[in-house]
Amino acid sequence: MSTSFPRIPPGGLLFGLGIDVTEAARIRRLLERLPRAYERLFSEQERAYCDGFSDPWLRYAARFAAKEAVGKALGIGIIGFVWRDIEVLSGGKPLIALHGGVADIARRLGVTRVEVSLSHTGGMAYAVAAALKEDADG
Ligand SMILES: CC(C)(COP(=O)(O)OP(=O)(O)OC[C@H]1O[C@@H](n2cnc3c(N)ncnc32)[C@H](O)[C@@H]1OP(=O)(O)O)[C@@H](O)C(=O)NCCC(=O)NCCS
Repeated sequence: MSTSFPRIPPGGLLFGLGIDVTEAARIRRLLERLPRAYERLFSEQERAYCDGFSDPWLRYAARFAAKEAVGKALGIGIIGFVWRDIEVLSGGKPLIALHGGVADIARRLGVTRVEVSLSHTGGMAYAVAAALKEDADG
């Protein structure tokens, strides 16, 4: 069996780390009160993934947490960012795709890859993110 790992570039640097914890019930209340938030916060792929579970709220909470964690890893927080510009691609190990303004910020910062890890249990979802730079001079 062969396993492939993402290549860590020589001289690659950790630009920043981010963490977030989100309560599933809070996300449920938000989405039930503001149905338009589904589309404002989550991409079509993210919604399709979450809605495939009998209890989708933990999955939505995990993606919400992931977006906040990525905002922290990039050092931009969540003020003024477009939530859908940070997309969690799911099915096994989650991957982060950056779009629009957040992708522009990451490029300006020299961040070439963002890694994330998710976990959920007991009504809470957790996400940790790492933003990586290509080289020490970048
Ligand atoms: C990945 C694994 C550690 C998850 O642990 P868990 O205690 O069941 O669940 P947690 O709540 O901690 O984590 C769930 C998250 O793990 C992440 N995850 C799943 N597979 C992963 C993998 N191969 N690598 C990294 N992260 C993974 C996902 O983001 C998932 O959340 P999501 O469905 O919302 O995207 C566990 O399922 C495992 O070891 N799986 C081995 C692979 C496997 O079983 N494959 C299925 C074969 S049929």
